[in-house]
Amino acid sequence: MQQTIPQQVSGVPQALSGRQLRQQSRRSRQQLYCSPQAVATAPETLPAQKKQPFGRLYNFSAGPACLPLDVLQKSQAELLNWNGSGMSVMEMSHRSKAFTSIITNAEQKLRQLLDIPGNYKVMFLQGGATAQFSAVPLNLTSEGDTVDQLVTGSWSKKAAQEAEKYGLKVNVVCKGDNKSVPSRDSWKLSSHARYVHYCDNETIQGVEFKTAPDVGDALLVADMSSNFCSKKVDVSKFGLIYAGAQKNIGPAGVVVVIVREDLMGKARQICPVTMDYETMKDSLYNTPPCWSIYICSLMFDYLLEQGGLEAREQLNQHKADILYDTVDSSNGFYAAPVHKSVRSRMNVPFVIPSKPELEKEFVSEAAKLGMTELKGHRSVGGMRASIYNSMPMEGIESLAAFMKDFAAKHS
Ligand SMILES: Cc1ncc(COP(=O)(O)O)c(C=O)c1O
Repeated sequence: MQQTIPQQVSGVPQALSGRQLRQQSRRSRQQLYCSPQAVATAPETLPAQKKQPFGRLYNFSAGPACLPLDVLQKSQAELLNWNGSGMSVMEMSHRSKAFTSIITNAEQKLRQLLDIPGNYKVMFLQGGATAQFSAVPLNLTSEGDTVDQLVTGSWSKKAAQEAEKYGLKVNVVCKGDNKSVPSRDSWKLSSHARYVHYCDNETIQGVEFKTAPDVGDALLVADMSSNFCSKKVDVSKFGLIYAGAQKNIGPAGVVVVIVREDLMGKARQICPVTMDYETMKDSLYNTPPCWSIYICSLMFDYLLEQGGLEAREQLNQHKADILYDTVDSSNGFYAAPVHKSVRSRMNVPFVIPSKPELEKEFVSEAAKLGMTELKGHRSVGGMRASIYNSMPMEGIESLAAFMKDFAAKHS
C-alpha cells in the first residue's frame, strides 16, 4: 500500500505530525477495508462493534502477540526516516548517535517502569529466553555445583533440563501438576544451591506466581517471559530476571536480562561470548536486534504514558477477571483447569468439559468473528486466550460475549 509522506525541500521525509498521522490512518483504513487482504482477514460477519481499524483482528496468540495500534503507527510514521536521521532504524549503525539514543531511552524507560536499582545491569540480547536457559548456568555456576529448580509447567521443566547439560546437580525443589504450585511446606530447597530458578508465569498451562516465591536468602532467578512488565515487581528480591520481549513489551528477537552486578564477570571459560554477561553488559559487543529494541523503547514510552505498571497490573487483573468470571458463571459449560490462587492473568486456559468435541467449533466460530489464535497449546488442548499488555479491553469484551453466546447455543 502506497503511503504519501510529506517531503522536505531537501527531499528527506519528515516525521508525520499528529494531524497527518490521523489523516493517514483514516486513508489507510479506507484502503485496507477495501483491499484484498482486508477481505481475507476481516470476515464479512464481523459485527460492527468488533471491527478494528485496518482490518485487524483480536489476536489472542501466546506470542509473538499483538502490539498497541499507537506503537505500530508511531513506528510506521518513523519507518522511512527516524527522527530526521535520514534513515530507518532498520538501516542505521548500532554505533550511531541515533541508535545510541534509542537504546539509552529503552534502558532508561525500563528502569523507570520497574524502579530497577542502580546495582543492576539491563541488557537487550538475542537467542530468546531459551538461550538464557543456558546462559544462566554458564554465568552463575561451576561444574559440580548444585542448582535448585522449581518445576511448575513446561517452561520451567525445559529450563531444568537445559541446566542438566552443564555438569550440575539439578535439584527439583517441587514438581507441580500443571494446575497448581505445590505448597511451600513441601518444597525441598538445598542448603548450598548457587541459585533457585523458577518461571513466574507458565505460558502453556496458565500458572502464575502472584508474588515472588519465598526462598529465604537464596539467589532467585526468574523467567518472566510471559508476564514481564505486566505488573510491578521488586527487582531487588532477584539476582537475575530474564524475559523474551514478544509477549508484553515488543516483537520477537530480543530478550531482556536484568542482572545484579556482583553476579557478572564469573562466566565459565566455555561460555559463548554472546552469552557472557560481562562482555554483553552494554548490549553492544556485537550487532544487537536494533529494530526490536526500538519497538521495545516505544512500548516502554507507551506503558509510562498509560500510567506505569501499577495501572497496567490493575487493568490486566480486570481483563483476566472478566474471562475467568465468564468461565465460572457458565454453570459448568466451561471450566478453567488451573487452581484459582495461581490463575494466570496473561494466559487464560479453559475447556468445555462435558462436550470437548465442541472446542474445535468454538475456535473456528470465534475466528469467523475476528478473534484468532484461541486454540490451546498442542500439549494441553482446549482453549487458551493470551491477553498480554496490548490486548485491548474491547477484545476481552468481545470474547466474553462470544463465550456466553456459544454456551447459550450449545447448553
Ligand atoms: C515462559 C517462557 N519461557 C521461555 C520461552 C521461550 O522463549 P523463546 O522462544 O523466546 O526462546 C517462552 C516462549 O513462549 C515462554 O513462554
